[in-house]
Amino acid sequence: MKFLIFLGSARQSSPPHPPRLGERVTQACKRYFQRVFPEHEIEIIDPLLIDTGSVFKPHFAYGPRTVPETLGTLANKIRHANGYLMVSPEYNHSMSPALAHLLNHFGSSNFAYKPSLIVTYSAGQWGGVRAAVGMRSFLSELGCLPVSAMIHVPKAAEIFDSTGHCTQTDTDAQWASYFERGISQLVWWAQAAATHAEQVNPHDLIKHFQRDPSQRNAP
Ligand SMILES: Cc1cc2nc3c(=O)[nH]c(=O)nc-3n(C[C@H](O)[C@H](O)[C@H](O)COP(=O)(O)O)c2cc1C
Repeated sequence: MKFLIFLGSARQSSPPHPPRLGERVTQACKRYFQRVFPEHEIEIIDPLLIDTGSVFKPHFAYGPRTVPETLGTLANKIRHANGYLMVSPEYNHSMSPALAHLLNHFGSSNFAYKPSLIVTYSAGQWGGVRAAVGMRSFLSELGCLPVSAMIHVPKAAEIFDSTGHCTQTDTDAQWASYFERGISQLVWWAQAAATHAEQVNPHDLIKHFQRDPSQRNAP
């Protein structure tokens, strides 16, 4: 199976921490994932490397022949992935605007019927829990339901180095099992969804909204 890790920060300036704390948390996710599930593929999606243009125009607003290559490539990766790790800092008690902005470019049919794992972090002591609350509804609306376990990393600069290795020798094993619990839930649900989708294709069973949001309305 294939999994994507979305890095939820597009911050380039300092203070407080050059470079982004999100890089080390994302690297930690990748390391822990590969340790438990080396048989699966994992790729980091970095918003700094994806030019979405200065005016918001989502992938689904283009015709098939006019989609910019960057958006088309990422849409394909999202469609073919089996699950997603959504890594977000907390900005003003909310999920990262950079992550929301990037995800908003893609319709829910690309993510739907596959699970996600919420991973939040902060420079301070709360680990992004307030951002995580909002992410649950955001990701549910996107169709990639978050698994019940969540990962929160307070004081991320002190916990992981830039390569994603835990710097705390006394709590290293606890961090590993904390990450592995969430990652294992994600992989279990992804496997279950993939197996069932082979028997019943959800996209055949449930039609996507093609025109506008009123298609969701009650009669
Ligand atoms: C605009 C902005 C708002 C922030 N709001 C919060 C917040 O609500 N809670 C918190 O714990 N940290 C907050 N922080 C601090 C971040 O945890 C810290 O800057 C962290 O390094 C952000 O992740 P990044 O380096 O990957 O961008 C905020 C930082 C910025 C730039």
